[in-house]
Amino acid sequence: MESPLVVASNRGPISFDVGEDGELIERRGSGGLVTALSDVFLRDDITWISSAMTDADVGVAQEGRELMVEPGLRARFVLIPEERYGAYYNRIANQILWFAHHCLWDIARSPRFDDDTKHDWRAFVDVNRAFAQTLDQEEDEPVFLVQDYHLCLVPEMLRDLRPDAKIVHFSHTPFAAPMYLRVLPVEMRTAIVRGMAGADIIGFQSRAWGENFLLSAQGLAGVHVDQRRGRVDLDGRRAFVRTFPVAVNAGSLRGTAARPDLKATAKEIASWRGDRSMLLRVDRLEPSKNILRGFLAFELFLSRYPAWQGRVKFLVLLSPSREDLDEYRTYGEECLAQAKRINGEFGDDTWEPIDVRVQEDYEYAVAAYSNYDALIVNPVYDGMNLVAMEGPLVNRRQGVLILSRNAGAYGRLGKHALPVNPFDLSETADAILQALEMPPDERARRARGLSRSVQAHTPATWLTDQLEAVDAVRPPMIGR
Ligand code: F6P
Repeated sequence: MESPLVVASNRGPISFDVGEDGELIERRGSGGLVTALSDVFLRDDITWISSAMTDADVGVAQEGRELMVEPGLRARFVLIPEERYGAYYNRIANQILWFAHHCLWDIARSPRFDDDTKHDWRAFVDVNRAFAQTLDQEEDEPVFLVQDYHLCLVPEMLRDLRPDAKIVHFSHTPFAAPMYLRVLPVEMRTAIVRGMAGADIIGFQSRAWGENFLLSAQGLAGVHVDQRRGRVDLDGRRAFVRTFPVAVNAGSLRGTAARPDLKATAKEIASWRGDRSMLLRVDRLEPSKNILRGFLAFELFLSRYPAWQGRVKFLVLLSPSREDLDEYRTYGEECLAQAKRINGEFGDDTWEPIDVRVQEDYEYAVAAYSNYDALIVNPVYDGMNLVAMEGPLVNRRQGVLILSRNAGAYGRLGKHALPVNPFDLSETADAILQALEMPPDERARRARGLSRSVQAHTPATWLTDQLEAVDAVRPPMIGR
């Protein structure tokens, strides 16, 4: 019999708001992690434990209500006091760990750690402990699937509570190279590596991120690393580093794109594009996505190749993200200001080069996918990047993918895409030209390659590969 699964992540599959009349409004959780995982868990024995993120979630959690997201998928919230949640999620996870793993600091000036950081870190440790304790309340002998940097300390804490537990930790983000991880206070980086190594399997989207983890583990006292075999020995036990790239569900995405309302939206977008070419980007509005350099590269393209002025429209769909934090808000404002400036310099009454829409509208993005001639995905660093995989599945114009070599998706899609160094505006400007002027037969060949490569993997195998990996190191007890 299959073991039941218990998933733990900061953001869960379901969240609540209170409507104008005081009624509870149920929303599906957003973001890459929830999108990727929701398609995977089509089994009937899953519990998904996440943070209560809104006041309404807290209310629901306090009532102790059992939440069925779909048949077979039960959800539970972990209650975290507001102040502590701010320290854990905003300040440690989003201001520090996100920046560390994506190399986002302006390193000559920031970060600066002080007593407040220590205080916030204690809150982060407490929240991770609250998660571990909640997981420990689960009965039977499930496989625990702990997600992402928010919960990087949970595996070790859960191991202390339940030495025989089967634990997988999976990072949806990159993992910082040792030199960059060393920016963190020593207590923090040691706890992160030891914390994750409490799992049986430490999973990453791409080999490179796993290698970074192993290199950092190697530097710690009392830890022995076998880099080639991906093994970490500490505290008398062994953890294995493995790669499990996430996949998208082609059938369900194409089903969404084929809905009559989305087809109507796709038509509207096609008439907005007219007889011009269309460059598209779809991202969360945050610094790792490299939106600003994307605009500057587009500007360079327009000035270097003026024959394209008036002949291309750049549609930019950005969903708001982590707006409570200055770093994210200021970055967003800077992106919008640059787009405006570029429109002012190049546009006229008949042509607006960049059309930026800041909206949380996944379905609009799916409709836009069908219409692009080129899709730009140029993150500074990215664990995987689902946009790079979704676009080619839905696109109907044999669109070309311009892809950062630093996105996890590059490993799978790189040979069919136009690669760019995300920091190199010149190379990116030329890639835009090459994408828009590519001969039809080459476009067709690359589009076919992209679509095939994406479909070669399914969300189900992402999960089964992890479960097989954990069973390979801790076989199930027969007859239980
Ligand atoms: O993929 C990394 C990640 O932090 C996910 O956990 C999450 O789905 C996504 O980015 C969005 O982040 P947040 O939950 O902070 O909005």
